Amino acid sequence: MTNVDTQVKPHTRDNLVSSGEFCLTAKDFAEIAAVMHREAGIALPENKVNLVYSRLAKRLRLLGLNNFHEYCNVIRDHSSPPGRNERDAMIAALTTNVTKFFREPHHFEHLKLHILPKLIHQAKLGQPIRIWSSACSSGQEPYSIGLTILSLLPEAANYNIKILASDIDPNMIALGEAGNYDKSALNAVPPTMVQRWFSPVASGSGEMRANAELRTLVRFRKLNLMGNWPMRGLFHAIFCRNVVIYFDNETQSRVWSRMVPLLAPEAALYIGHSERISGPAEALLRSDGVTIYRHAHGTRVAP
Ligand SMILES: C[S@@+](CC[C@H](N)C(=O)[O-])C[C@H]1O[C@@H](n2cnc3c(N)ncnc32)[C@H](O)[C@@H]1O
Repeated sequence: MTNVDTQVKPHTRDNLVSSGEFCLTAKDFAEIAAVMHREAGIALPENKVNLVYSRLAKRLRLLGLNNFHEYCNVIRDHSSPPGRNERDAMIAALTTNVTKFFREPHHFEHLKLHILPKLIHQAKLGQPIRIWSSACSSGQEPYSIGLTILSLLPEAANYNIKILASDIDPNMIALGEAGNYDKSALNAVPPTMVQRWFSPVASGSGEMRANAELRTLVRFRKLNLMGNWPMRGLFHAIFCRNVVIYFDNETQSRVWSRMVPLLAPEAALYIGHSERISGPAEALLRSDGVTIYRHAHGTRVAP
Protein backbone atom coordinates (compact mmCIF):
# COMPACT_ATOMS: atom_id res chain seq x y z
CA MET A 1 0.00 0.00 0.00
CA THR A 2 1.11 3.54 -0.62
CA ASN A 3 0.51 6.21 1.99
CA VAL A 4 -1.72 8.15 -0.39
CA ASP A 5 -5.16 8.89 1.08
CA THR A 6 -7.50 7.02 -1.21
CA GLN A 7 -10.58 8.69 0.27
CA VAL A 8 -9.81 12.10 -1.20
CA LYS A 9 -12.07 12.98 -4.11
CA PRO A 10 -9.91 11.90 -7.03
CA HIS A 11 -10.39 14.13 -10.00
CA THR A 12 -11.46 17.51 -8.82
CA ARG A 13 -10.41 20.07 -11.42
CA ASP A 14 -8.32 22.09 -8.94
CA ASN A 15 -5.54 19.53 -8.80
CA LEU A 16 -5.83 18.36 -12.38
CA VAL A 17 -2.41 18.09 -14.03
CA SER A 18 -3.52 16.65 -17.35
CA SER A 19 -6.96 16.44 -18.90
CA GLY A 20 -8.21 15.37 -22.32
CA GLU A 21 -9.68 11.91 -22.62
CA PHE A 22 -8.77 10.96 -19.02
CA CYS A 23 -8.38 13.09 -15.89
CA LEU A 24 -4.96 12.82 -14.26
CA THR A 25 -4.63 14.63 -10.95
CA ALA A 26 -1.47 15.60 -9.07
CA LYS A 27 -2.35 12.93 -6.53
CA ASP A 28 -2.70 10.20 -9.21
CA PHE A 29 0.61 11.29 -10.71
CA ALA A 30 2.31 11.20 -7.30
CA GLU A 31 1.00 7.69 -6.67
CA ILE A 32 2.20 6.42 -10.06
CA ALA A 33 5.59 8.11 -9.56
CA ALA A 34 5.92 6.55 -6.07
CA VAL A 35 5.24 3.04 -7.41
CA MET A 36 7.71 3.51 -10.29
CA HIS A 37 10.38 4.70 -7.90
CA ARG A 38 9.85 1.95 -5.37
CA GLU A 39 9.48 -0.92 -7.84
CA ALA A 40 11.81 0.03 -10.70
CA GLY A 41 14.04 2.78 -9.26
CA ILE A 42 12.76 5.15 -11.92
CA ALA A 43 12.42 8.81 -10.97
CA LEU A 44 9.47 10.64 -12.51
CA PRO A 45 9.73 14.36 -11.79
CA GLU A 46 6.69 16.56 -12.42
CA ASN A 47 7.86 17.51 -15.90
CA LYS A 48 7.15 13.89 -16.93
CA VAL A 49 3.38 14.33 -16.56
CA ASN A 50 2.74 14.35 -20.30
CA LEU A 51 4.90 11.29 -20.81
CA VAL A 52 3.01 9.41 -18.09
CA TYR A 53 -0.32 10.49 -19.54
CA SER A 54 0.46 9.55 -23.12
CA ARG A 55 2.12 6.21 -22.32
CA LEU A 56 -0.58 5.08 -19.89
CA ALA A 57 -3.67 6.33 -21.76
CA LYS A 58 -3.52 3.15 -23.89
CA ARG A 59 -3.62 1.05 -20.72
CA LEU A 60 -6.71 2.90 -19.46
CA ARG A 61 -8.45 2.40 -22.81
CA LEU A 62 -7.55 -1.29 -22.81
CA LEU A 63 -8.87 -1.76 -19.27
CA GLY A 64 -12.03 0.27 -19.99
CA LEU A 65 -11.28 2.79 -17.20
CA ASN A 66 -12.63 6.33 -16.96
CA ASN A 67 -9.76 8.17 -15.31
CA PHE A 68 -6.36 7.78 -13.62
CA HIS A 69 -7.95 7.52 -10.20
CA GLU A 70 -9.51 4.23 -11.30
CA TYR A 71 -6.15 3.18 -12.75
CA CYS A 72 -4.46 3.88 -9.40
CA ASN A 73 -7.06 1.68 -7.70
CA VAL A 74 -5.99 -1.19 -10.01
CA ILE A 75 -2.25 -0.87 -9.43
CA ARG A 76 -2.67 -0.29 -5.70
CA ASP A 77 -3.99 -3.82 -5.21
CA HIS A 78 -0.74 -5.59 -6.04
CA SER A 79 -1.56 -8.67 -3.96
CA SER A 80 -3.89 -9.97 -6.70
CA PRO A 81 -2.85 -10.97 -10.23
CA PRO A 82 -4.72 -8.13 -12.04
CA GLY A 83 -3.00 -5.50 -9.90
CA ARG A 84 0.36 -7.23 -10.05
CA ASN A 85 0.14 -7.72 -13.82
CA GLU A 86 -0.92 -4.14 -14.37
CA ARG A 87 2.04 -2.89 -12.34
CA ASP A 88 4.34 -4.87 -14.63
CA ALA A 89 2.53 -3.47 -17.68
CA MET A 90 2.86 0.05 -16.25
CA ILE A 91 6.59 -0.39 -15.64
CA ALA A 92 7.00 -1.71 -19.20
CA ALA A 93 5.00 1.24 -20.59
CA LEU A 94 6.99 3.83 -18.65
CA THR A 95 10.49 2.52 -19.33
CA THR A 96 12.41 3.58 -22.42
CA ASN A 97 13.75 0.73 -24.49
CA VAL A 98 15.70 2.60 -27.16
CA THR A 99 18.79 0.65 -28.15
CA LYS A 100 20.79 -0.37 -31.20
CA PHE A 101 23.54 -2.70 -32.32
CA PHE A 102 27.04 -1.44 -31.45
CA ARG A 103 25.65 1.62 -29.72
CA GLU A 104 28.60 3.62 -28.36
CA PRO A 105 31.01 1.62 -30.52
CA HIS A 106 34.14 2.53 -28.54
CA HIS A 107 32.96 0.14 -25.80
CA PHE A 108 33.06 -2.79 -28.20
CA GLU A 109 36.50 -1.70 -29.49
CA HIS A 110 37.74 -1.60 -25.89
CA LEU A 111 36.23 -5.01 -25.17
CA LYS A 112 37.85 -6.46 -28.28
CA LEU A 113 41.30 -4.92 -27.77
CA HIS A 114 41.73 -4.81 -23.99
CA ILE A 115 39.45 -7.40 -22.37
CA LEU A 116 38.74 -10.30 -24.68
CA PRO A 117 42.23 -11.37 -25.87
CA LYS A 118 43.32 -12.53 -22.39
CA LEU A 119 39.89 -14.05 -21.65
CA ILE A 120 39.86 -15.99 -24.91
CA HIS A 121 43.31 -17.34 -24.14
CA GLN A 122 41.94 -18.50 -20.76
CA ALA A 123 38.76 -19.89 -22.36
CA LYS A 124 40.93 -22.07 -24.58
CA LEU A 125 42.47 -23.45 -21.38
CA GLY A 126 38.99 -24.32 -20.10
CA GLN A 127 38.20 -21.19 -18.05
CA PRO A 128 34.74 -19.60 -18.24
CA ILE A 129 34.03 -16.15 -19.67
CA ARG A 130 31.12 -14.29 -18.05
CA ILE A 131 29.74 -10.96 -19.27
CA TRP A 132 26.59 -9.19 -18.03
CA SER A 133 24.43 -6.90 -20.10
CA SER A 134 22.35 -5.58 -17.21
CA ALA A 135 19.62 -3.57 -18.99
CA CYS A 136 19.66 -5.36 -22.30
CA SER A 137 16.39 -4.09 -23.80
CA SER A 138 15.55 -6.11 -26.94
CA GLY A 139 18.94 -7.79 -27.17
CA GLN A 140 21.00 -5.62 -29.50
CA GLU A 141 23.56 -4.92 -26.74
CA PRO A 142 24.26 -8.54 -25.69
CA TYR A 143 24.27 -9.69 -29.33
CA SER A 144 26.81 -6.94 -30.13
CA ILE A 145 28.95 -8.36 -27.32
CA GLY A 146 28.45 -11.84 -28.80
CA LEU A 147 29.42 -10.63 -32.28
CA THR A 148 32.56 -9.03 -30.83
CA ILE A 149 33.50 -12.35 -29.25
CA LEU A 150 32.76 -14.23 -32.49
CA SER A 151 34.98 -11.80 -34.43
CA LEU A 152 37.93 -13.07 -32.37
CA LEU A 153 36.76 -16.63 -31.76
CA PRO A 154 34.34 -17.89 -34.45
CA GLU A 155 33.93 -21.21 -32.63
CA ALA A 156 32.98 -19.45 -29.35
CA ALA A 157 29.86 -21.61 -29.01
CA ASN A 158 32.15 -24.57 -28.23
CA TYR A 159 33.62 -22.86 -25.15
CA ASN A 160 32.33 -21.98 -21.69
CA ILE A 161 31.32 -18.46 -22.66
CA LYS A 162 28.08 -16.88 -21.44
CA ILE A 163 26.59 -13.43 -21.74
CA LEU A 164 23.83 -12.85 -19.19
CA ALA A 165 21.30 -10.47 -20.74
CA SER A 166 18.78 -9.10 -18.25
CA ASP A 167 16.08 -6.46 -18.19
CA ILE A 168 13.07 -5.58 -16.05
CA ASP A 169 10.72 -5.76 -19.04
CA PRO A 170 9.63 -9.32 -19.99
CA ASN A 171 8.52 -8.12 -23.43
CA MET A 172 12.10 -7.06 -24.15
CA ILE A 173 13.43 -10.39 -22.88
CA ALA A 174 11.06 -12.22 -25.26
CA LEU A 175 12.26 -10.11 -28.21
CA GLY A 176 15.88 -10.78 -27.32
CA GLU A 177 15.27 -14.51 -27.00
CA ALA A 178 13.61 -14.59 -30.42
CA GLY A 179 16.61 -12.77 -31.90
CA ASN A 180 14.69 -11.41 -34.91
CA TYR A 181 15.58 -7.94 -36.18
CA ASP A 182 14.56 -5.74 -39.08
CA LYS A 183 17.24 -5.51 -41.72
CA SER A 184 17.40 -1.77 -41.04
CA ALA A 185 18.31 -2.47 -37.37
CA LEU A 186 21.33 -4.39 -38.67
CA ASN A 187 22.72 -1.36 -40.55
CA ALA A 188 25.14 -0.75 -37.68
CA VAL A 189 26.49 -4.32 -37.97
CA PRO A 190 29.34 -4.86 -40.46
CA PRO A 191 27.87 -6.66 -43.54
CA THR A 192 30.35 -9.54 -43.21
CA MET A 193 29.02 -10.20 -39.69
CA VAL A 194 25.39 -10.03 -40.83
CA GLN A 195 26.16 -12.50 -43.60
CA ARG A 196 27.90 -14.90 -41.27
CA TRP A 197 25.84 -14.70 -38.07
CA PHE A 198 22.27 -13.87 -39.23
CA SER A 199 19.82 -15.57 -41.60
CA PRO A 200 16.63 -14.30 -43.25
CA VAL A 201 13.56 -15.23 -41.15
CA ALA A 202 11.30 -15.85 -44.14
CA SER A 203 11.54 -14.58 -47.66
CA GLY A 204 9.96 -11.14 -47.95
CA SER A 205 9.59 -10.56 -44.17
CA GLY A 206 12.52 -8.13 -44.11
CA GLU A 207 13.68 -9.68 -40.86
CA MET A 208 16.91 -11.45 -40.01
CA ARG A 209 17.41 -13.91 -37.16
CA ALA A 210 20.55 -14.30 -35.09
CA ASN A 211 22.01 -17.73 -35.87
CA ALA A 212 22.22 -20.47 -33.24
CA GLU A 213 26.00 -19.92 -32.78
CA LEU A 214 25.28 -16.34 -31.72
CA ARG A 215 22.09 -17.02 -29.75
CA THR A 216 23.72 -19.79 -27.75
CA LEU A 217 26.21 -17.31 -26.25
CA VAL A 218 23.42 -15.23 -24.69
CA ARG A 219 21.08 -16.19 -21.83
CA PHE A 220 18.12 -13.83 -21.36
CA ARG A 221 16.57 -13.41 -17.90
CA LYS A 222 14.09 -10.99 -16.37
CA LEU A 223 15.92 -9.09 -13.62
CA ASN A 224 15.03 -5.88 -11.81
CA LEU A 225 18.12 -3.90 -10.81
CA MET A 226 16.16 -2.88 -7.69
CA GLY A 227 15.52 -6.50 -6.66
CA ASN A 228 17.60 -9.57 -5.88
CA TRP A 229 20.46 -10.47 -8.15
CA PRO A 230 20.59 -14.26 -8.00
CA MET A 231 23.81 -14.63 -10.02
CA ARG A 232 26.75 -16.39 -8.46
CA GLY A 233 30.31 -15.71 -9.51
CA LEU A 234 32.09 -12.73 -10.99
CA PHE A 235 31.83 -11.06 -14.38
CA HIS A 236 34.73 -10.18 -16.67
CA ALA A 237 32.76 -7.25 -18.06
CA ILE A 238 29.51 -5.57 -17.12
CA PHE A 239 27.53 -3.34 -19.44
CA CYS A 240 25.20 -1.06 -17.48
CA ARG A 241 24.36 1.53 -20.09
CA ASN A 242 21.61 4.09 -20.46
CA VAL A 243 19.54 2.82 -17.56
CA VAL A 244 20.74 4.55 -14.36
CA ILE A 245 20.05 7.85 -16.13
CA TYR A 246 16.40 7.18 -15.23
CA PHE A 247 17.21 6.69 -11.51
CA ASP A 248 17.74 9.35 -8.83
CA ASN A 249 21.26 9.94 -7.45
CA GLU A 250 20.87 7.77 -4.38
CA THR A 251 19.55 4.84 -6.42
CA GLN A 252 22.38 5.22 -8.93
CA SER A 253 25.02 5.06 -6.16
CA ARG A 254 23.35 1.97 -4.72
CA VAL A 255 23.41 0.21 -8.09
CA TRP A 256 27.13 0.97 -8.56
CA SER A 257 27.91 -0.21 -5.01
CA ARG A 258 26.19 -3.52 -5.70
CA MET A 259 27.72 -3.94 -9.15
CA VAL A 260 31.39 -3.27 -8.41
CA PRO A 261 31.76 -6.34 -6.13
CA LEU A 262 30.59 -8.47 -9.05
CA LEU A 263 33.55 -7.42 -11.19
CA ALA A 264 36.41 -9.92 -11.45
CA PRO A 265 39.95 -8.54 -11.10
CA GLU A 266 40.77 -6.48 -14.23
CA ALA A 267 37.12 -6.59 -15.31
CA ALA A 268 35.58 -3.65 -17.15
CA LEU A 269 32.41 -1.69 -16.41
CA TYR A 270 30.84 0.12 -19.36
CA ILE A 271 28.29 2.86 -18.66
CA GLY A 272 26.12 5.11 -20.85
CA HIS A 273 27.39 8.27 -22.52
CA SER A 274 25.52 10.64 -20.17
CA GLU A 275 26.03 8.60 -16.99
CA ARG A 276 28.71 8.75 -14.31
CA ILE A 277 29.84 6.60 -11.39
CA SER A 278 28.82 8.10 -8.06
CA GLY A 279 28.99 7.18 -4.37
CA PRO A 280 31.47 4.83 -2.64
CA ALA A 281 31.99 2.74 -5.81
CA GLU A 282 33.78 5.66 -7.47
CA ALA A 283 36.86 5.20 -5.27
CA LEU A 284 37.10 1.52 -6.24
CA LEU A 285 37.30 2.09 -9.97
CA ARG A 286 39.78 3.71 -12.31
CA SER A 287 38.89 5.25 -15.62
CA ASP A 288 40.08 3.33 -18.66
CA GLY A 289 38.55 5.51 -21.37
CA VAL A 290 35.37 7.47 -21.95
CA THR A 291 32.62 5.85 -19.81
CA ILE A 292 34.85 2.79 -19.24
CA TYR A 293 36.04 1.72 -15.78
CA ARG A 294 38.31 -0.96 -14.30
CA HIS A 295 39.15 -1.86 -10.71
CA ALA A 296 41.37 0.85 -9.27
CA HIS A 297 43.91 -1.66 -7.94
CA GLY A 298 43.00 -4.65 -10.03
CA THR A 299 41.82 -6.35 -6.87
CA ARG A 300 38.44 -7.58 -5.89
CA VAL A 301 36.33 -5.42 -3.64
CA ALA A 302 34.65 -7.11 -0.68
CA PRO A 303 30.85 -7.21 -1.15
C1 LIG B 1 17.34 2.86 -22.90
S1 LIG B 1 17.34 1.13 -22.66
C2 LIG B 1 19.09 0.81 -22.73
C3 LIG B 1 19.39 -0.47 -23.49
C4 LIG B 1 20.88 -0.76 -23.67
N1 LIG B 1 21.55 -0.93 -22.41
C5 LIG B 1 21.53 0.32 -24.48
O1 LIG B 1 22.31 1.12 -23.93
O2 LIG B 1 21.28 0.39 -25.68
C6 LIG B 1 16.99 1.02 -20.91
C7 LIG B 1 16.52 -0.35 -20.47
O3 LIG B 1 16.56 -0.40 -19.05
C8 LIG B 1 15.51 -1.21 -18.61
N2 LIG B 1 15.25 -0.90 -17.19
C9 LIG B 1 14.67 0.19 -16.64
N3 LIG B 1 14.59 0.07 -15.32
C10 LIG B 1 15.15 -1.12 -14.99
C11 LIG B 1 15.37 -1.81 -13.76
N4 LIG B 1 14.99 -1.31 -12.59
N5 LIG B 1 15.97 -3.03 -13.82
C12 LIG B 1 16.37 -3.56 -14.99
N6 LIG B 1 16.16 -2.96 -16.19
C13 LIG B 1 15.58 -1.75 -16.19
C14 LIG B 1 14.36 -0.85 -19.54
O4 LIG B 1 13.37 -1.86 -19.57
C15 LIG B 1 15.10 -0.66 -20.87
O5 LIG B 1 15.05 -1.83 -21.65
